[in-house]
This record gives sequence, structure tokens and C-alpha cells, in this order.
Amino acid sequence: MLNEKVKELLNEQINKELYSAYLYLDMANYYANEGLSGFENWYYVQAQEERDHAMLFRTYLQNNGEKVILKAIAQPDKEYTSFSDPLAAALEHERYVTASINTIYAAAHEIHDYRTMQFLDWFIKEQGEEEKNSEDLIKKFELFGSDAKGLYMLDSELGARVYAAPSLVLD
Ligand code: FEO
Repeated sequence: MLNEKVKELLNEQINKELYSAYLYLDMANYYANEGLSGFENWYYVQAQEERDHAMLFRTYLQNNGEKVILKAIAQPDKEYTSFSDPLAAALEHERYVTASINTIYAAAHEIHDYRTMQFLDWFIKEQGEEEKNSEDLIKKFELFGSDAKGLYMLDSELGARVYAAPSLVLD
């Protein structure tokens, strides 16, 4: 059994990760409509990864004998008016998710829940990578995105991203 507060935060994180998947799918849809299939692919793969994250929290709760409660997923409501808008929104969102993971970690730390801390270690590292990926993409867009040829090359590069299952496996 987990501490009540830690359990609630872990359960809430399922919703946040599923919302992340929804948000990134919405970004993929935006780029699909704009004809940028590489950017679409990048965020489609990201959406798949976010769903995986949600499932990891679900499995962790279940492995600890806790009941999982699924809540409504909010509608992505951002309006994108330029190709760089989703890139900035993605970084902002990842920073929000990092803060959320840190909050769970702090709650687990406070009550010496070392098992949950160890589980969260993977997400702490993952968030570092996700923030860096978002920052790198913004930098690349600033360098190459304003030129049609550069944008084409960047779109091709992002189109090569392939989905990989998470390195953390809970069963
Ligand atoms: Fe699951 Fe992008 O954080």
C-alpha cells in the first residue's frame, strides 16, 4: 500500500500523461493540416511515448495494490498560428510535467518512500531528455525554419523519428 497523498499524485500523473499524449496528437494534427509530415511524425511518436508513460504509472499503482481511477482528459485548446508555436508550447508543457514529477518525488521523499523514488528516477531522467529535445528543436527551427529549403530538410529529419518502447519495463 502506498501513502494516500503519494497514491493520489501518482494517479493524477496518469491523467497528465494522457493529456500530454492528447496535446501532442493535436500538434501532430496541426502539422498534418499544414503539410509538414515530418513534424507530424515527430509529435505523433511523442504522443505514443506519453501514452506509455501513463501506462507505467498505471502499472506501478497496480503493482502496489492500488486502485487506478481514470479521470476525464481535457481538450487541447491551443491555437497555433505559426509553425514554431507548437515547439514553444511543447517546451512549456514539458517543464510543467517536470515540475509535476518533482512534486511526486518530493512527497515520496518526505515519507521515505524509497520504492516510489526509485520508480520515479526513470522519469526524472526522461524529463531531462524531453526538455532538451524540445529546446533543441526550437534552436533548429530558429536556425533553419525560416528558409523554405531549411524547413524542408528539417521536416525530413523529423520524419525519420521512430517509436521505441520505453526502456523502463514494469510487469
Ligand atoms: Fe511524459 Fe513528456 O512527459
